[in-house]
Amino acid sequence: MTPIPPSLKGRDFITTQEWNIEEIELALQTATLLKKLKKEGRPHRWLADKTLFLFFFDKSTRTRNSMEAGITQLGGHAHFISAETSQAAHGESPKDMGIILASYGHGIAIRHDLVPGEGNAYMREVAKWADVPVMNLQCDIDHPFQMLADLMTMREEFGEDLRGRKIAVSWAYAPSYAKPLSVPQGLISLMTRFGMHVTLAHPPEFKLMPEMMRQAEQNAKKHDGRFEIVDSMEAAFENADIVYPKSWAILELFGRPQEALAIARNYRSWICDAKKMALAKKEAIYLHCLPADRGNEVTDEVIDGPQSRVYPEAEDRLHTGKAIMALTM
Ligand code: CP
Repeated sequence: MTPIPPSLKGRDFITTQEWNIEEIELALQTATLLKKLKKEGRPHRWLADKTLFLFFFDKSTRTRNSMEAGITQLGGHAHFISAETSQAAHGESPKDMGIILASYGHGIAIRHDLVPGEGNAYMREVAKWADVPVMNLQCDIDHPFQMLADLMTMREEFGEDLRGRKIAVSWAYAPSYAKPLSVPQGLISLMTRFGMHVTLAHPPEFKLMPEMMRQAEQNAKKHDGRFEIVDSMEAAFENADIVYPKSWAILELFGRPQEALAIARNYRSWICDAKKMALAKKEAIYLHCLPADRGNEVTDEVIDGPQSRVYPEAEDRLHTGKAIMALTM
């Protein structure tokens, strides 16, 4: 028997902003229940025989596997589709893909995060034509499944009421690849809606999308949060409850990653180390969506240390992913 209310059946999950606070609360409550059921070994086959398509234009460890494991635990099945080996690589339209996959299954989840201006628009086009829920597994604008998991982990640490808690969202140096902007953008957008004091820090070249900055300001005003921008990781960490330092790329240089990485090398000192952690509150926690560039974004001492919550955070991807599937499919 499904204890899920029908109100969210069929809903897309493309940005957290499109779900109201009550709907996000319901998702978090559902995730908490699903976490408990899994830990107790109690079956919860709420999506028996349902099929979810996982359509990836980019690589993934957590997102793919939390969704595949999650739908299996819910009694359904996932089909993994790599964009490279599907007809999308030959230019098949999102309209045709949306209509056809919807006729085969019960949900379509898409990761399309590497090209600013493309991923979110692509999934909205699929959603326009598919009569099943479309879920955003990370686009150029937001990473809503990661945001829900982050919120869940913060609440597990500090309790449900996060109002007034300071979160430092800081750029950090990484040489591995030009990482999307969607995680910091998702954080400034969602955490301000929960009354948090969000402080953003980045070198001057690493600005976020102007519309997401405006959204964060508006959300902070509306929900008694706070949104400020500072110019160093140290300033952001000052007295923080949560630090979330991670790398992202330069918006204007997405097609030229080598140029962006060359500029990033000027900011190698933007690493989260024990000295910077000491600026935050004593009970502060370190979060990162992962994968982290160890030794560049963060030292082993911090990510493996007592303040790190990266593994519970990654685990919460499973429970929140299951909650969204169970509510919408
Ligand atoms: N955090 C996250 O989205 O991880 P993956 O890129 O491994 O899916």
